[in-house]
Amino acid sequence: MSLPRGHALVCALVVFAGGAAAVGIAVWRYEHRYNEPELPEEYRGVANPLEDDHAARDAGARLFSRNCAPCHGPDADGRGPAAPGLNPPPADFRGGPILRNHSDAFLYWRIAEGKHGTAMPQWDGVLTENERWEVIAFLRSLEPD
Ligand code: HEC
Repeated sequence: MSLPRGHALVCALVVFAGGAAAVGIAVWRYEHRYNEPELPEEYRGVANPLEDDHAARDAGARLFSRNCAPCHGPDADGRGPAAPGLNPPPADFRGGPILRNHSDAFLYWRIAEGKHGTAMPQWDGVLTENERWEVIAFLRSLEPD
């Protein structure tokens, strides 16, 4: 059976347009997955080179318990021994929206530069770039409560 040429052409066009639309939607969704207007331009799009690296996660867990747990808690739920009295309280990485709502690039920026107006310190100069990514690899491995 042979289709009329015109029909074949229309089919090809429909397939092509459909494919282009799918690619367009995928790109749009990626770009708009996170709404982070405050993220400085130079941090945009940076990705964790240690994603899914188990050794990095373990190293990140150790760094977290030493540096972050006093505020964010040994269980990363925001309830560290230094948390009472802090306003705003330290972020909860178990139940709060931070990990869900933010890209690795955003977490990296926050950890590097801290959060003004809160007790969240700047870690630039304390943790190396690699150590910051290790902590992020650890945070991404946490199960929500
Ligand atoms: C002295 C207490 C303290 C220490 C130590 C600390 N944090 Fe924080 N952190 C805070 C507070 C307070 C906030 C602010 C929460 C808010 O704005 O709701 C915060 C927020 C954050 C956020 C979310 C930022 C945002 O945009 O809301 C991340 C991510 C974070 N901390 C990671 C870390 C990591 C990783 C470490 C260890 C390397 C660390 N923090 C150490 C107190 C601390």
